[in-house]
Amino acid sequence: MSAPARPPEGGASQSPERAQPANRTHPLPQEGGRGDGSSTPARPPEGGASQSPERAQPANRTHPLSQEGGRGEGPRMTILSVQNLSRRFGGLTAVDDVSLAVSPGTVHAVIGPNGAGKTTLLNLMCGIYTPSSGSIWLDDHDLSGAPHYAFARLGLGRTFQTPQIFNNMSALENVMVGRYMHEQRGLFLGLAEALLRLPTLRAAERRSREEAAELMRVVGLERYLDAEADALPYGALKRLEIARALALKPKLLLLDEPAAGLNHSEAVEIEQLIGQLVERGMTVVLVEHNMRLVMEVSDAILVLDHGRRLAEGPPQMVREDPRVIEAYLGKEAAEDARSAVAV
Ligand SMILES: Nc1ncnc2c1ncn2[C@@H]1O[C@H](COP(=O)(O)OP(=O)(O)O)[C@@H](O)[C@H]1O
Ligand SMILES: [Mg+2]
Repeated sequence: MSAPARPPEGGASQSPERAQPANRTHPLPQEGGRGDGSSTPARPPEGGASQSPERAQPANRTHPLSQEGGRGEGPRMTILSVQNLSRRFGGLTAVDDVSLAVSPGTVHAVIGPNGAGKTTLLNLMCGIYTPSSGSIWLDDHDLSGAPHYAFARLGLGRTFQTPQIFNNMSALENVMVGRYMHEQRGLFLGLAEALLRLPTLRAAERRSREEAAELMRVVGLERYLDAEADALPYGALKRLEIARALALKPKLLLLDEPAAGLNHSEAVEIEQLIGQLVERGMTVVLVEHNMRLVMEVSDAILVLDHGRRLAEGPPQMVREDPRVIEAYLGKEAAEDARSAVAV
């Protein structure tokens, strides 16, 4: 793994508040989190290599949904920092020298035409793909080249463009396995613990069930608490994926097209859900084609085109950027828009 450069924008290590868990309660489950009882986050040694992700310990945090510091509150710093990131597939550069700094408690959208590199960027940001070059920092941890479970351990959850649902399980069990999916020891042992109901694990399983049920309520799926996963309509599956990602107790969620294939009212529900999560302190990186949703929920938008950063800024600025209009609508539409502004 390459190391030493610190993230350019105020890393979490500069803020003592970051190391302190929020001593607050929330109705959502608090116990048994990955972060319980561990040490404060490690800082990369000055001028030296950062702690390896395999050894990296998560911060001693409570459930992220219980934290304050939602939109507009708390210190502004960077929770996720991507620097000069590139990923090549043979001769194709899917992500080309992209940098990004995501502030806690915000929604940072990534948009762009099909094939622009959005999903590849998310896959790099969560360790599914290894960067060809560049670096990725989560808080104070350099995770460039780290495996996906190292990202998950440090509080990163994600959903997929196409819901990855286990159809032979109940909806609730699909949420329960979220906790185990990214562990190094693999999904099987986690599933065994969750599903075999070994006597010593009954209490843990009951708690896991209660937490999963609570998360289903959070995403508005309480009516499916007793349903089999394959009985859920598509819109509910998209939200079930979000509940499963939340089961990991992340502080940062990567959502890949959460409103794809949804009708207007279902998309509005996703928009409201993202808003609620952020109000409770979650940070979201959102890849989405539904521009109304993107414009409503985002604090900042990165526009990719052919793997490169085309524009970045607040929604209003990006919406009026002629390069963005051109990438989406073509050169003629962009010229029309320019002349309309000039008149
Ligand atoms: N695993 C892969 N192997 C080869 N090419 C890939 C792979 N993943 C993505 N690509 C290519 O990278 C480019 C960007 O893809 P992707 O990130 O899925 O775009 P988007 O999500 O913006 O539609 C596309 O040309 C795609 O074909
Ligand atoms: Mg995609």
